[in-house]
Amino acid sequence: MSGWVDVLGAAELQEGGRCTVDVAGKPVALVRVDGRVWAVDDTCPHRGGSMGQGDLQGHFLYCPLHAWSFDVRDGTAFFPRGARIACFEVREEGGRVLVRR
Ligand code: FES
Repeated sequence: MSGWVDVLGAAELQEGGRCTVDVAGKPVALVRVDGRVWAVDDTCPHRGGSMGQGDLQGHFLYCPLHAWSFDVRDGTAFFPRGARIACFEVREEGGRVLVRR
């Protein structure tokens, strides 16, 4: 069953910031780009690096271990081509960030 989970105060994630939050027991990486929050699986599909600790360049989030990079808007990889990471719906409401599990 899917639902919205309150994960963070909106002010805690500044422009260009990233972090890892718990969404009903699952680690999810959040980033803020151009004022909007995006959410992807925190666990890199390569060997499990924490995407929430990676570098953010534009809409691309780079895994801190071996630099696989994913577009946070749709989960497609810039490198390597064909890789993919799960994305989650996000909304901000009442100064809070909510993620759909
Ligand atoms: S674990 Fe993420 S690129 Fe290797």
